Amino acid sequence: MKFNKICILGLGYIGLPTASMFATHGLKVVGVDVNPHVIETLRSGKLHIHEPGLGEAMQKAVESGNLTVSTVPEPADAFIIAVPTPFYDDKRADMRAVTSATEAILPHLRKGNLVVLESTSPPLTTVNLVIPILEKSGLKAGADFHVAYSPERVLPGQILRELIENARVIGGITPESAQAGHDLYATFVKGDIIKTTATTAEMVKLMENTYRDVNIAIANEFARLADRFGIDAWEAIQLANLHPRVKILSPGPGVGGHCISVDPWFLVESAPDLTPLILTARKVNDSQPHFVLALVKAALGGTIAGKKIAALGLAYKPDVDDLRESPAVEVAHLLQANGALVKCYEPFKPDAALPGLTLVPSLESALAEADLLLLLVNHTQFRAFTPSQLASQTPARLLVDTVHAWADQDWASAGFQIHTLGVNKK
Ligand SMILES: NC(=O)c1ccc[n+]([C@@H]2O[C@H](COP(=O)([O-])OP(=O)(O)OC[C@H]3O[C@@H](n4cnc5c(N)ncnc54)[C@H](O)[C@@H]3O)[C@@H](O)[C@H]2O)c1
Repeated sequence: MKFNKICILGLGYIGLPTASMFATHGLKVVGVDVNPHVIETLRSGKLHIHEPGLGEAMQKAVESGNLTVSTVPEPADAFIIAVPTPFYDDKRADMRAVTSATEAILPHLRKGNLVVLESTSPPLTTVNLVIPILEKSGLKAGADFHVAYSPERVLPGQILRELIENARVIGGITPESAQAGHDLYATFVKGDIIKTTATTAEMVKLMENTYRDVNIAIANEFARLADRFGIDAWEAIQLANLHPRVKILSPGPGVGGHCISVDPWFLVESAPDLTPLILTARKVNDSQPHFVLALVKAALGGTIAGKKIAALGLAYKPDVDDLRESPAVEVAHLLQANGALVKCYEPFKPDAALPGLTLVPSLESALAEADLLLLLVNHTQFRAFTPSQLASQTPARLLVDTVHAWADQDWASAGFQIHTLGVNKK
């Protein structure tokens, strides 16, 4: 199938790089976002998100004359939905954005169109939610227009490269729909494009992230056991991973972001009777910030109230600016609730504001007057700190490292005492 013009709904971490990719590969692209601030920012030539290389990619896309942005969709050959799928407080999937984006396509749907859902969604969303809305047009899915689900598996920080190089799964509601999806993404994807059914493709995405969540939950429990038995869990994991068929992931302050901490809930919600392990893993990872709280408390000799803590990093993972569902934010809240005076510093979002937390715009202001430095994110620049550098910038001589970034440094000779999550060598 041949495509000239496409419409991408949702211009966030996924939709915007995807839009720029299609535009620089010769398709006319209308990028749609319901947030007027996003559209204004993009129209003024700026970006509302941080992703390496995205600025250059956008510039190329705009200069090619192929990319325009708007708050409303237009008729096109294909529509891609890349809107958020968060969860409600009770962990049920919040599908309102997918529903409204699909409804926005409805007036423009024509015979021969392709609609692709990219948003991570509970199993059967394409068939049970998207298609019934689109068929209000009077057209029949699979006969008059194509529908596919294609999960996005890019790594934030590497999105532009991975969009091109990663293998892509396209699940069609019919083989013809899968083929149409294949033809669309072949515009720029160099990795394999594998066709399957829409529901299989939905499950692939959920299974990948659930596997990682369960694996991290095991690593977090190993870190807790290390504390009990007086070993270094990081060393033990490294040694266990020498086994050719073992790949244990790393422990840490918890699991965050918009994918791994969210997606397993979609399976738990869809089939609670069949998912006790997945639910338990979620609970283990969600409780890990409390383990960090206990670690900090122990490091401080049992008293947190009144202590000045510099919380270094708030992002959910290294070298990104994404604070969504971040366990680092949860740890900062817990410390604050226990009476600590917490100054948070996130180098990738120094001007962020989070209700209930004190965020400072510079490292210097976080370190000044601190009693304890708490490393929550393994950002490259934090990992590079040396004992002598930190010793001259802060009166604190207590360090708590939740990500094993400072393990190889000789902190003791610079007068520091370090407590590393998962390390309890007696
Ligand atoms: N960010 C990632 O690394 C990643 C990776 C894989 C999958 N995903 C999935 O991709 C989807 C999008 O994630 P994201 O990180 O790009 O989200 P995002 O929050 O960065 O961006 C989504 C954008 O969609 C816009 N939007 C909301 N409702 C809309 C509507 N009805 N019409 C048009 N625009 C609308 C929002 O204003 C926002 O700008 C989610 O389902 C997510 O789980 C994300």
